[in-house]
Amino acid sequence: MFELKDKVIVLTGASGALGSALALSLAEAKAKLIILGRNKILLEDLTKKLKFFTHAEYHIVNVLNRSELEKVSTSVMDRFDRIDSLINAVGGNLPGAVIPDEKSIFDLSENDFDEVVDLNLKGTIMPSIVFGRFMSKQGSGSIINYSSMAVDRVISRIVGYSAAKAAMENFTKWMAVEMAIKFGDGIRVNAIAPGFFIGKQNKKLLLKDDGSLTERGEKIIRNTPMKRFGKAEELNGAIHFLCSDSSRFVTGIVLPVDGGFSAYSGV
Ligand SMILES: NC(=O)c1ccc[n+]([C@@H]2O[C@H](COP(=O)([O-])OP(=O)(O)OC[C@H]3O[C@@H](n4cnc5c(N)ncnc54)[C@H](O)[C@@H]3O)[C@@H](O)[C@H]2O)c1
Repeated sequence: MFELKDKVIVLTGASGALGSALALSLAEAKAKLIILGRNKILLEDLTKKLKFFTHAEYHIVNVLNRSELEKVSTSVMDRFDRIDSLINAVGGNLPGAVIPDEKSIFDLSENDFDEVVDLNLKGTIMPSIVFGRFMSKQGSGSIINYSSMAVDRVISRIVGYSAAKAAMENFTKWMAVEMAIKFGDGIRVNAIAPGFFIGKQNKKLLLKDDGSLTERGEKIIRNTPMKRFGKAEELNGAIHFLCSDSSRFVTGIVLPVDGGFSAYSGV
């Protein structure tokens, strides 16, 4: 039911902490992988590992640059004649869009706020439009976006990222409805909402140099019923499900993978 063999899957943010673990598991399932990112050395290294299992190729692309995205989508269509899944794993934060305890909302950097919204919102919308157009023509495809625990409840400090992911969740549902109504029941748009995973961006916030928890890390673990951070590979099952035909009647959902964080009141 979770068969992904020979599916043509485009993955953005592939060299990131979560994206690279996902790429490996999709390769093991023998999907054909087109990985996008910005860091040539990391992408080259990852592609070598993926090629051990399957077809894999990388492209240096800024997800906010439509013409770069279009170049890749045209090249994929020319060679494979279809795109089965698009996974939008790009996302991130900037210091000026974060409000530390000693500052307040009135110190927000408008410039960093705009950049974070662009990256997390338009960074999902642009690839969805460029690759989704081909899905609309072929009448099939699955788009998967990355949301966050910061959407439904306030996570202190993280103002810009939270606003952007909230808008991106809304876009996920909006595009799910649009695609199903106008282009048929073969096209699905969903998101996953990871709980807390140690990534490049949040490592310093959650762990001290000796590996023990920071105060913020402790708060998160206290509010996670499973009492630990997630491991990157623990997201992969949810993605395989949403890419595969076993979720063919599932669209417009946001699937939490969070050790119970979103279910827990903390009491
Ligand atoms: N790690 C977590 O705990 C966590 C929790 C919730 C949600 N998420 C979301 O999951 C996704 C993956 O997270 P991660 O921890 O792997 O992040 P990461 O920072 O490790 O990886 C993000 C990748 O995106 C790439 N990227 C950034 N801007 C780009 C651009 N303009 N064009 C192309 N590539 C660009 C970076 O080079 C990097 O490889 C993100 O959307 C993140 O917001 C992560």
